[in-house]
Amino acid sequence: MKYIKPYENLPELSQVALGCMRIADMTDGEMDTYLNTALECGINLFDHADIYGRGKCEEVFGKALARDKSLRDKMIIQTKCSIVPGKMYDFSKEHIISSVEGSLKRLGIEHIDILLLHRPDLLMEPEEVAEAFDVLEKSGKVGNFGVSNHSPMQIELLKKYVKQPLKINQMRLSIANATMISSGANVNLCNNDGINYDGYLRDYCRLNEITIQPWSPLQQGFIKSCFLNEEKFSDINKTLAELGEKYGLTPAGMAISWLLRLPEKTHPIVGTTKPDRVKAVAAAADVTISREDWYRIYREQGYPLP
Ligand SMILES: NC(=O)c1ccc[n+]([C@@H]2O[C@H](COP(=O)([O-])OP(=O)(O)OC[C@H]3O[C@@H](n4cnc5c(N)ncnc54)[C@H](OP(=O)(O)O)[C@@H]3O)[C@@H](O)[C@H]2O)c1
Repeated sequence: MKYIKPYENLPELSQVALGCMRIADMTDGEMDTYLNTALECGINLFDHADIYGRGKCEEVFGKALARDKSLRDKMIIQTKCSIVPGKMYDFSKEHIISSVEGSLKRLGIEHIDILLLHRPDLLMEPEEVAEAFDVLEKSGKVGNFGVSNHSPMQIELLKKYVKQPLKINQMRLSIANATMISSGANVNLCNNDGINYDGYLRDYCRLNEITIQPWSPLQQGFIKSCFLNEEKFSDINKTLAELGEKYGLTPAGMAISWLLRLPEKTHPIVGTTKPDRVKAVAAAADVTISREDWYRIYREQGYPLP
């Protein structure tokens, strides 16, 4: 496993992190195996949100922590707030604080290590966010802060008021959803790959030492369609399988190693619920793929190069 240290007051975080969005229906036994497998692989960062499984994901995770009291100290627990499902985004002081209190209760823990603002509130009042973060920090309920799905300018706006460092931005990024990367190779060219949807977030995050956490790193669309083994993605799957043999990784592991090869050092948040697959993606952090192979995967996914 490789580790990075975005926050001064936290231990190093594993570069491969486990996303807990799909664990709501796991049994006690499955949860225990899943968490212990992740820890054995060197994964120490666990990503939640107040809304996953309508709270059930944090709840089943909390029950696992209660069954084995030694687990909590081995983990960095991250959760997110701001989405009120089907209704709105909410960055009000009241909502942020009550969301954290709900997460703490469901997880059964004393403090959240990292809190991310899940999606930008279109009615964002950054002064209120700042007040909420101060209250949460002062009370010891949250140790560190960051954002998710935010543009550079939205982060700048928050930074004008929020005094805690915002060191993480969780964004959708995978080989199949890589406009954040391809736009950098097509500056001022009138083609689709050159459309920049994110305000040059990669460069902004590097300049400001913000770590990008790719969410859904194996998905082609929005969370319900893995590109592995998909007919429509047969070329890229063939390449991932071939290169996987060279590096000793599964195709999934190769797809994660492609993200880990980005020099800014990302934290892919993988969402598998299967222990064997957890091992396979964690192994991606033990290899560094070559520049040639990184570009081969990029080209094979259909991004043209001269
Ligand atoms: N910030 C945001 O807005 C946002 C949005 C969405 C997600 N997230 C975070 O990102 C995390 C990951 O999202 P995700 O679950 O969509 O990520 P993912 O790792 O791209 O996809 C995982 C899904 O792919 C399936 N899969 C099929 N073959 C697989 C293989 N060989 N290896 C691994 N998985 C395989 C898994 O099924 P099995 O379980 O059967 O393996 C699982 O359903 C979430 O848990 C959440 O923490 C954040």
